[in-house]
Amino acid sequence: MQRIVLASRPRGAVLPENFRLEEVDLPALDVGQVLVRNHYLSLDPYMRGRMSEAKSYAAPQPLDATMIGATAGVVAASRHPDFAEGDAVIGMLGWATHGIAAGGELRKADPRVPLSAGLGVAGMPGVTAWYGLNRILQAKPGETVLVSSASGAVGSVVGQLARLRGCRAVGIAGGPDKCAYVTDTLGFDACVDYKAGRLKEDLRAATPDGVDCLFENVGGLGLDLALARMNAFGRVALCGLIAGYNGDAQPLYNLKHMLIKRLRVEGFIITEHPEVWPQALDELGALVHSGQLRYRESLAQGLTAAPEAFIGLLQGRNFGKQLVQLIP
Ligand SMILES: NC(=O)c1ccc[n+]([C@@H]2O[C@H](COP(=O)([O-])OP(=O)(O)OC[C@H]3O[C@@H](n4cnc5c(N)ncnc54)[C@H](OP(=O)(O)O)[C@@H]3O)[C@@H](O)[C@H]2O)c1
Repeated sequence: MQRIVLASRPRGAVLPENFRLEEVDLPALDVGQVLVRNHYLSLDPYMRGRMSEAKSYAAPQPLDATMIGATAGVVAASRHPDFAEGDAVIGMLGWATHGIAAGGELRKADPRVPLSAGLGVAGMPGVTAWYGLNRILQAKPGETVLVSSASGAVGSVVGQLARLRGCRAVGIAGGPDKCAYVTDTLGFDACVDYKAGRLKEDLRAATPDGVDCLFENVGGLGLDLALARMNAFGRVALCGLIAGYNGDAQPLYNLKHMLIKRLRVEGFIITEHPEVWPQALDELGALVHSGQLRYRESLAQGLTAAPEAFIGLLQGRNFGKQLVQLIP
C-alpha cells in the first residue's frame, strides 16, 4: 500500500517537502481487526496544528508516521464479527490507500448519503456545526447568526441549520464566487466577501440588527470586526482560527465589546463531545437525504495530490469540503 508520512515540521507555511510518499507492506490481520481500502481521504485544517510540536489539545503528529486523517472506504477483509467484506466504513486510517483498524475504531457509513459525505456534511465537520449552533449558540428564531468561512465544510452547515431554526444567516467568505454560492445555493440571507476590501462597511450592511450569535472559524480582522457588531448578551462559538494556523499574530482591537455587550465566548473541540455524535449524525444524514442540507466538495485525485490539496486548503483554494479521491 502507499502512504504519506510527515517528513519534517513546517516553519510557517506548509511546504510539499514536509511530506514523503512511501510504499509499505500491509501486516496480517489480527483477531478483531478490519482491512479497509480507502476511497476518500479527508483533509482538515486541524492537521496543521498536529504538524507542529507546540502544546495543544492533542499530541503532535509523530515524524515518519502516516499523516493523521479521516477516511471513507470499503472493507476488504475482516476478522471482526460486526464487519464483512464490502461494508462501507468511516475511520481514521490516515493519508494512505489502505488501513487496518480495530472494529471498534470504525463506524458504518450512513447508507442514506453518498460515501464521501460521511467525511463532510454528514461527518465530523457537520457534527461540529451542529454542536456549535445547537449546544453553544442556542440560536433562537429571528436571531442573526454570523459565520466565517461560510462556504466551507463547517460554515456551510452552520448557516443552513441556522436558517432551518428560523434565524437570519449571514456568512463571510473569500471572493464573489464563494459568496454567490453561499446565498444562491445554500440560502443564506447575506454573505460578505472579506476580500472586497470593505469588510467593516459590508458587515454593517449585512447585519442591520447586529449579531446575536457568532460562529467563528477564521479569526483575524473578521473576528475583530464581528465583535463590534455583537448585540448585548450575544454568544460566540469559537470553533477555529485558521487565519493564524501558520503562526501569524492575530491582534484583537475590539475586545472591549466582550465586556460592554456581556458576551459569552466558548471554545470547543468536537471530539471531546462524543455524546452528541449519534443524534447529530442521524439528523444531518436525514437532512442531506431529504435535500434540505446541501454541500459541495473539492476533490483532489490520487494520494500523491494530498500535500498540494492540503496546502491549498490552508490558503482558501478549496471550495467546499476538501477531499482526496483515492480510487478514480
Ligand atoms: N473546534 C473543532 O472541533 C473543529 C472541528 C472542525 C473544524 N474546525 C475549524 O473550523 C474551521 C473550518 O474548517 P473546515 O473544515 O470547514 O474548512 P473549510 O472552511 O472547508 O476550509 C478552510 C477555509 O478557510 C478559509 N481560510 C483559509 N485560510 C484562511 C486565511 N488565512 N484567512 C482567512 N480564511 C482562510 C478559506 O475560505 P475563504 O476562501 O472563504 O477564506 C478556506 O476555504 C477551521 O478553523 C477548523 O480548524 C474546528
